[in-house]
Amino acid sequence: MVPISRPVLGIETSCDETSAALLRDGRELLSNIISSQMEIHREYGGVVPELASRKHVESILPVIDQAFTEAEVRKGDVSAVSVTYGPGLVGALVVGLSVAKALAYAWGVPLLGVHHLEAHIYANFVEAQREFPLVCLVVSGGHTEIVLMEGHGDLVILGRTRDDAAGEAFDKVARVLGLEYPGGPAIDRVAAKGDEEYLSLRRSHLEEGSLDFSFSGIKTAVAYLVNDLTQARKAIPVAHIAASFRRAVVDVLVDKTMAAAERHGVKSVFMAGGVAANSLLREEMLRAGGSRGLEVSFPPANLCTDNAAMVACAGHYLLKRGLVSDLSLDAEAGPELGVRG
Ligand code: KG4
Ligand code: ZN
Repeated sequence: MVPISRPVLGIETSCDETSAALLRDGRELLSNIISSQMEIHREYGGVVPELASRKHVESILPVIDQAFTEAEVRKGDVSAVSVTYGPGLVGALVVGLSVAKALAYAWGVPLLGVHHLEAHIYANFVEAQREFPLVCLVVSGGHTEIVLMEGHGDLVILGRTRDDAAGEAFDKVARVLGLEYPGGPAIDRVAAKGDEEYLSLRRSHLEEGSLDFSFSGIKTAVAYLVNDLTQARKAIPVAHIAASFRRAVVDVLVDKTMAAAERHGVKSVFMAGGVAANSLLREEMLRAGGSRGLEVSFPPANLCTDNAAMVACAGHYLLKRGLVSDLSLDAEAGPELGVRG
């Protein structure tokens, strides 16, 4: 009988999701447990770091326990423990990292420190075989980056936001419009009923040829408009504003990703991160890629937002290359992509 290789345990606690997953051979997802703290942070309109850390402490062991039970894997029967070491909230990262170190030490298996952005990209590799080179648009609450990937671990940032991350802009505009946190899914929902031509928002393309982004202008324009309407005691057309804003952000994201793909001659375009769950972004990326003969793909919605399956997957490819971390690995708020912790 062919021996079944042991799965990698992935652990993710960089923000407000406590997650543990077991992934075999980098592709076979045995379990992916996600305990979201969204309800706790909602009343504050954003993630409260101190509360996030405390909730991770409470949830982490039950979540890991459940991951093993669901996968029907005996505790400790793993090839390695893979964990996000940054970027993220340091107090939150420390929780997952400490548990990962303790388990790796106790079970005598390697520890794999994973960069959160790299993990988001690897969500595309869970249960799928991929070819290089590829361009990936990483859009989350903390990041907006266009990354060229020419092989495992070979990642180069081609463009990034100069101010707000795309998800951050969604969250801030949602707050201005009186929508619930997190703002991305709320805007996506109400925008479906709005007229995206209600507002003509200037798309910021920055200098000629730049693959960087800027979303603060669009966000501020919406804030001024809502303020003016409020002062004038006029009704705020929430759905129309949400639709116009979503359209403006999506247009820029799609244009720049396509420009990056053409410039670097890649045939595949991927998306990753929470904003990659946006329905219009998915639709427009597929349309733009299709008309250029590019393969466009993105993870299912539950693998776009923070999860441990992507961390286990990134860890699997680190392990294959022998890139094991030292037990002195520390949490980092903003490590560079491509530099090993
Ligand atoms: O990747 P993620 O779970 O956490 C970070 O690493 O930041 O991304 C969370 C972000 C939030 O800003 C949220 O509003 C946004 O992703 N988001 C969306 C959608 N779903 C989540 N933004 C736009 N449309 C969505 N459907
Ligand atoms: Zn994330």
